[in-house]
Amino acid sequence: MSGAEDVAVDALDEAAAAAELARLAAVIARHDRLYHQEDAPAISDADYDALVRRNRAIEARFPALVRPDSPSLRVGAAPAEAFGKVVHPVPMLSLDNAMEEAAVVEFLARIRRFLNLTADAPVELLAEPKIDGLSCALRYEAGLLVTGATRGDGTTGEDITANVRTIRDIPQRLDTDDPPPVLEVRGEIFMELEEFRKLNERRASEELPVFANPRNAAAGSVRQLDSTITASRRLRFFAYAWGAAEPPITGSYHGFLERLAAMGLRVNPLNRICRSAEELIAYHAEIGERRAGLGYDIDGVVYKVDDLRLQQRLGFVGRAPRWAIAHKFPAQQAVTVVNDIVIQVGRTGALTPVAQLEPITVGGVVVGRATLHNQDYIEEKDIRVGDTVVVQRAGDVIPQVVEVVTDRRPKGAMPFDFPEICPECGSHAVRLPGEAVRRCTGGLICPAQVEARLEHAVGRDAFDIEGLGKKQVPQLIEAGLLKAPADIFRLAGDPAKAEALAGLEGWGKKKIENLVAAIEARRTIPLDRFILALGIRFIGEANAKLLARHYGTLETWRQAMLAVAGDDEDARSELADIDGIGPKLVDALAEFFREPHNIEALDDLASEVTVEAVASPAGGGSPFSGKTLVFTGSLEQMTRAEAKALAEQLGAKVAGSVSKKTDYVVLGADAGSKAKKAAELGVETLDEAKWLAMAGVS
Ligand code: IVH
Repeated sequence: MSGAEDVAVDALDEAAAAAELARLAAVIARHDRLYHQEDAPAISDADYDALVRRNRAIEARFPALVRPDSPSLRVGAAPAEAFGKVVHPVPMLSLDNAMEEAAVVEFLARIRRFLNLTADAPVELLAEPKIDGLSCALRYEAGLLVTGATRGDGTTGEDITANVRTIRDIPQRLDTDDPPPVLEVRGEIFMELEEFRKLNERRASEELPVFANPRNAAAGSVRQLDSTITASRRLRFFAYAWGAAEPPITGSYHGFLERLAAMGLRVNPLNRICRSAEELIAYHAEIGERRAGLGYDIDGVVYKVDDLRLQQRLGFVGRAPRWAIAHKFPAQQAVTVVNDIVIQVGRTGALTPVAQLEPITVGGVVVGRATLHNQDYIEEKDIRVGDTVVVQRAGDVIPQVVEVVTDRRPKGAMPFDFPEICPECGSHAVRLPGEAVRRCTGGLICPAQVEARLEHAVGRDAFDIEGLGKKQVPQLIEAGLLKAPADIFRLAGDPAKAEALAGLEGWGKKKIENLVAAIEARRTIPLDRFILALGIRFIGEANAKLLARHYGTLETWRQAMLAVAGDDEDARSELADIDGIGPKLVDALAEFFREPHNIEALDDLASEVTVEAVASPAGGGSPFSGKTLVFTGSLEQMTRAEAKALAEQLGAKVAGSVSKKTDYVVLGADAGSKAKKAAELGVETLDEAKWLAMAGVS
């Protein structure tokens, strides 16, 4: 028989499973190394994921066989309550700084004096980038990673072992046949700029606060109690020092780094041996020039005496070694003039003010624009057109205006008047209570938002149009075939449009026919999906259903919402009284219906489709009408999705967890903690037969 490699997970016996887990740990570690250290992946991401999945599936069958170096430990363990403390066996110290070249010359002179060497005696130093992240200590015992700790106050740090295990640059097991009994590797955890940019983009679109710079993002990610979050952030690591070590580290620093690299740790490739102050300063200048292109933030370079015997003799002064110094780069700031403030409209309608600057070089990069974030930021700093300002680059991100040089303000410069009309579409731009962002309310017609809105409208939960998705929507917008939701149906109804479609790349006859058929199949749509398709803020599937069920028909809902927008008190309280509809949603609906462009677009769409009324739960006679249900355990007669749909049809709301608001918990087979919770809270429980009987299914 060939190895366990080709055997299905279900067919493995324990011995074969153990062998297969050992093989997978080695294979996955090898691919991690090829990918991260050598930038030479040997398999596709999909194949890599398949290996990781197979490893996880085997571990799920044989939990006792999970290896201490298992690759699954990288993807995150269950959330911890709080971080434990780790006392550093050797304190984690910091570095003295040199801001000027003279300080570098003095650093070398002091070393020679201390060692009683002549002024021209050769001293070798290793120069390397100073990574702008956070330092971390990794303890390996007999080659296995046992703890990861933050620096903390230098004496005691926090135990972040579960989180460091998610970092793919950090091996779980040192790649050596002869591992040292103890080796504590120290280095820097950081986030690459591309990852930082993507993370902030994601956070901004979810309306979460963005991180100011990659360092904060890395620190925030490492300090997550839930290591699956850390795993999703793709942190990186460079090793550059050691703490406890048995046997002691001897020889040279560069030799130590080479050993680390050979054992599978990542070491910065830009290090260089220098032999004089001139060489050190030239290295600093060279790295300074390359800084903007490195893909990660550095804030200087570090010089370390290479000979470890000399390091030992030099020792420490206070909290910093005498054998090393950080030669920092000047701050990435510059002074320039704000020529204009323009407003950009994002995909979700957020209005972002941007300063157009007199171009200036900041840290080697020409900067012509800076984000001003939002209205409050401009007001707080009182930034005006014509002002002289200090700008700063935080990482490689869009630069920021730090402050105004007020005594250089030109006469007559006026405070910035933040527009209340969207510059893209002329709709009202409003700021909801408690929000920093002003937002265009013309979502259905605003060119800046149309792509996101149409993608949403054709999506699975809304019109669900097969063949029209993220790939096609931008193409059809670009071709002028789609501007608003109603245009989707005109693609099918108007022969001229179908003809125009035929002229576009990738649209053959068959594909057009399929699309037309898919669109026609969706010309009739239930009210809740219609409401969802409009893309009104805060309206997801659940809220759309609540509204549809309460108002029943499109016309009733539309009239009620117009009344809400017109500040009709009765209409507003009727809406606010619907169980599950909060004040934010009421405001969002009012804003949507206050914008005439939206009503036109809604009516236009309604004229193309048939909106099905939703049976009102009131008077339906169902025992579940207006009740909240929770399903748990597995049902025999129907799937969970069917049961949910049936309950909703009967006027119930289906929740995911049991609370005091729950009316019934339906218990399937093997119901677990939710059954217990129901008993604790005194919530009525139904077995499957009872639920079916009450639902009228026999
Ligand atoms: S050596 C005893 N090397 O800079 C010396 N530190 O300002 C230990 N850092 O806490 C530090 N890159 O977080 C060293 N190549 C490098 C570094 C580096 C970044 C950080 C580290 C340290 C801080 C000191």
